[in-house]
Amino acid sequence: MADTPPNFYKTGLRPLLFNALNADPERLHQQTLGLLAWLAANPAEGGWQQPLRRAAQSGLKAAYCQSDSRLSQTLWGLHFDSPLGLAAGFDKDGQAARAWPLLGFGFAELGTVTAQPQPGNPQPRLFRLPADAAALNRMGFNNQGATALAKRLEALWHPLDCPIPLGINLGKSKVTPLEQAAADYLASFKALKDWGSYFVVNVSSPNTPGLRMLQARDQLEPILAALQSANRPRQPLLVKISPDLADADLLDIINLAQSYELAGIIATNTTISREHLQTQTLATGEPVRHQPGGISGAPVRQRATEVIRLIYQHTQGQLPIIGVGGIFSAADAWAKITAGASLVQVYTGWVYEGPGLARQICQGLLNQLDRHGLKSISQAVGLNSIES
Ligand SMILES: Cc1cc2nc3c(=O)[nH]c(=O)nc-3n(C[C@H](O)[C@H](O)[C@H](O)COP(=O)(O)O)c2cc1C
Repeated sequence: MADTPPNFYKTGLRPLLFNALNADPERLHQQTLGLLAWLAANPAEGGWQQPLRRAAQSGLKAAYCQSDSRLSQTLWGLHFDSPLGLAAGFDKDGQAARAWPLLGFGFAELGTVTAQPQPGNPQPRLFRLPADAAALNRMGFNNQGATALAKRLEALWHPLDCPIPLGINLGKSKVTPLEQAAADYLASFKALKDWGSYFVVNVSSPNTPGLRMLQARDQLEPILAALQSANRPRQPLLVKISPDLADADLLDIINLAQSYELAGIIATNTTISREHLQTQTLATGEPVRHQPGGISGAPVRQRATEVIRLIYQHTQGQLPIIGVGGIFSAADAWAKITAGASLVQVYTGWVYEGPGLARQICQGLLNQLDRHGLKSISQAVGLNSIES
């Protein structure tokens, strides 16, 4: 891969934020979202701030966006300028929805949003594990609820003038019993169906009690049935799965996804495994091994890629996959795409590598296309799907 220029975020800003200031990860996250929301607000609104915003937005575009038709694809009738998107959980309430295209993302997934607004788990609930290039979170779907997201998007986002596709990731409200999950997902879907380009049934977060049990065939089926029967005209509906599923359970979900005509599968969410972690204790001094939460970043990379390959093989590439888990570089994205992912997403890698990551990945993917003599990214999908 071509040499990359020095990364000011990694050498200057990140050490300051992570170490010198020892900024609380969740506070820093909220401040970043606030800043991005301000920068990306519609420049036509807002008096004296107008010229400042215009300049900031064209500066962001110039610095972070990479446009090349070889990276574009049409999937589910939607146009994706780039295969790299923002993963769910970063912008749960869509505060910074307008910022993601300015930072080089080809799509962004908002949420997880639930039918009822909810505060999530007690803080602290987000920890960095720098020795493992990872994070541990037990946020618990803290979000303002589906109706609030619909209102925000109505104000911020104009469906006819969407710069990128917006996914909306739906979860079950904590107060709703598992037996009533289908109605709960359906309520969120109905509130938001005019605002998403695609929708995701999230049954794989480890941070809502019992949620991952909804991945079982008999639990998932009524949810998919309820959503698909209300899904007219048809919007792309995907399911997001855990990396901790046994292969046999994974095959069950794939078959169900196909029989309910889902648009695809997102693989994967965070893992509850603590294997191979270097980090022993969290910032609170408590042992990582016994702390609840999901691990993201490098430790989930390999299993996520295996899951992608398995889905691709089992469906003979007929069911589109969004690959996510441990992408920190173009090589990581390429591994997921060639295993079978049509699109990929990042969360933890963006926190560690900084805002230049989307552009860096796009440039690296273009280099890979050249190296392999391919004309477009869609030709790379599944290229290494028979490796085991
Ligand atoms: C702090 C944090 C919050 C997350 N919240 C959600 C969420 O609300 N919904 C969801 O589907 N995934 C959520 N995820 C999982 C990510 O979308 C992604 O699947 C996972 O982190 C693996 O990707 P990564 O290694 O690039 O982070 C969250 C991840 C992190 C680190």
